Amino acid sequence: ALISMRQLLDHAAENGYGVPAFNVNNLEQMRAIMEAADATNSPVIVQASAGARKYAGAPFLRHLILAAVEEFPHIPVVMHQDHGTSPAICQRSIQLGFSSVMMDGSLKEDGKTPADYDYNVEVTRQVVAMAHACGVSVEGELGCLGSLETGQAGEEDGVGAEGTLSHEQMLTDPDEAADFVKRTQVDALAIAIGTSHGAYKFTRPPTGDTLAIGQIKAIHKRIPNTHLVMHGSSSVPQEWLKIINEHGGNISETYGVPVEEIQEGIKHGVRKVNIDTDLRLASTGAIRRYFTEHPAEFDPRKYLAKATLAMSEIVKARYEAFGTAGQA
Ligand code: G3H
Ligand code: 13P
Ligand code: NA
Ligand code: ZN
Repeated sequence: ALISMRQLLDHAAENGYGVPAFNVNNLEQMRAIMEAADATNSPVIVQASAGARKYAGAPFLRHLILAAVEEFPHIPVVMHQDHGTSPAICQRSIQLGFSSVMMDGSLKEDGKTPADYDYNVEVTRQVVAMAHACGVSVEGELGCLGSLETGQAGEEDGVGAEGTLSHEQMLTDPDEAADFVKRTQVDALAIAIGTSHGAYKFTRPPTGDTLAIGQIKAIHKRIPNTHLVMHGSSSVPQEWLKIINEHGGNISETYGVPVEEIQEGIKHGVRKVNIDTDLRLASTGAIRRYFTEHPAEFDPRKYLAKATLAMSEIVKARYEAFGTAGQA
């Protein structure tokens, strides 16, 4: 059944687990997520970005998610819009039947320029008023996503702030978070705690302090009833980078957010964990490997099935690691 984000994250908070939110653009990603959710009895958050709507078309995306609900009626599914850049975009998604929207007012409408605090409060407040009247949940964002190591927002193709960010911009302030939640009434808050979008988060192997865990604790203490959201939470599996590079790929050395650090965040109020890159890497690796091993094959179902399986394994592992398994 389709449920709101608020319903699911309230249950997650009561029961002390986290929910990975996976980006969807196509049938294979959708199937991979639902098969893993079915196998582990996990509730699901699927999210569509502006890029996903451009790629698949809004009606196809909408029906892909509704098809998942139809085929797996026993699995609760949140249909979330990722990184809305204006109230108008959020309104359109509400009309399309999304049960949750993100108004990302940390950036201006161009999705690149850091916005000031009052603008963020104003647009988020507007979206909450509209969404709550329709039973739809709202995620806001305070602070700019960026790697504390590199000072970069990370995303190679356009999502996130441009240029180098200051340390202060990259860490959400607990007092400001409390004021923001009070003034906007958001259901969930994405916080900046050292992660960035995309595959290139950190240049060195993690040493246990990738996340600003102290900041998470301080924010959770200040707003214990607000569900915290971590964007840029792919772990960038080294085994998939290796497979990609062994089969004609060329991805330079890079590291993501270790699963153990995400688990630590979940102990301190993190309820939604955004993951896109990991499924991109797994599907690319599986397809590259299939191509080198079966150079004469040309039926797309053959290699897409391998991609689906590879993505599904990652989804399952995250459901188990975050405590989502068994909660559907
Ligand atoms: O926020 C970033 C997500 O990974 C979505 O990426 O805009 O390329 O679909 P996208
Ligand atoms: P990753 O690029 O780390 O997978 O993050 C995805 C994300 O935050 C989508 O909003
Ligand atoms: Na989101
Ligand atoms: Zn994001």
